[in-house]
Amino acid sequence: MSIARALLLKASRSSWIAEQFRRRRFAKAAVRRFMPGENVDDAFRAANEFAREGLGTVFTELGEGVTNAAESDAVRDHYLVVLDRIKREAVPTHVSVKLTHLGMEIERGACIARVESLAKRAEEVGSYFWIDMEESNYVDATLDVYRAVRANHEKVGLCLQAYLRRTPADVESLLKIGPSIRVVKGAYREPPEVAFPKKKDTDQAYFDLSVRLLEGGAFTVLGTHDTALIARIRERAAGKKFEVHMLYGIQSAAQRALAKSGVKVRVLISYGSNWYPWYVRRLAERPANVWFVVKNMFAG
Ligand code: FDA
Repeated sequence: MSIARALLLKASRSSWIAEQFRRRRFAKAAVRRFMPGENVDDAFRAANEFAREGLGTVFTELGEGVTNAAESDAVRDHYLVVLDRIKREAVPTHVSVKLTHLGMEIERGACIARVESLAKRAEEVGSYFWIDMEESNYVDATLDVYRAVRANHEKVGLCLQAYLRRTPADVESLLKIGPSIRVVKGAYREPPEVAFPKKKDTDQAYFDLSVRLLEGGAFTVLGTHDTALIARIRERAAGKKFEVHMLYGIQSAAQRALAKSGVKVRVLISYGSNWYPWYVRRLAERPANVWFVVKNMFAG
């Protein structure tokens, strides 16, 4: 891991820097590159524009590490309203949520109940409910919640991170329950005994895991902006059905090109005011992005 990436990922955990940064106008301007706006209406507006171009979307309200149950209930209620609106406005949109936003750290049973109600509503409105993957200490709990909810609902998917050394074993055990999996490279700061420190090992693991999932019959989503890797997987797993999900504002031209070539593409749209840790993880993925922040500082 580069020093710049490690420093940025460390900064993403600092509430003091978050407070300083979030108040600045230049920061709000810089963050616009990765989100259409803080409000859910901004997300719907963008989703309608993507839909006109044949691209689907996935919504996520930014937030994590909620420590009181009432707040997690409010997050669930927010998504229930969003799912109803997805149906009413007929936008081809899924939702994706972090389990620590739905109270996984407070009480597992209550978190499962919240996810159950969201997965049920997603099914009723013809959408899909995705579970994000957070730091490695949450993986066991996240898998438990996924298994519990998958037992009763089909349209529920889970994110797995290719950089984790444990993921091939998780894939093998999940394949037995007919999973839907979004494969990503992994966005957090992890020790080398837990995650590959070298990008090339993560990239190889990503290829192997994706091919295994496709050949094992899982509904597979390639959550990556790595177009060369997508092309290699597409060639190797010719004839298998998969979707590509990318983040809003990253590789926009490739999103459209893939959709034109017949791949189902969805753009993940984030919204909400709690964007600091999420935004700094985006900077860490490509430390050159820090220049956008600097440019905005001097843009007046
Ligand atoms: P890689 O880093 O190799 O980038 C490939 C190319 O994409 C780069 O060369 C560059 O051109 C471009 N690119 C990538 N990131 C960029 C950025 N920030 N700014 C500008 N250009 C960029 N992680 C996680 O741990 N848990 C999760 O639940 C999710 N969920 C998730 C959903 C979806 C739909 C996506 C696309 C990603 C995630 N991630 C995630 C993030 C993921 O783990 C990873 O950090 C990023 O996708 C960056 O890695 P790439 O796969 O894009 O490859």
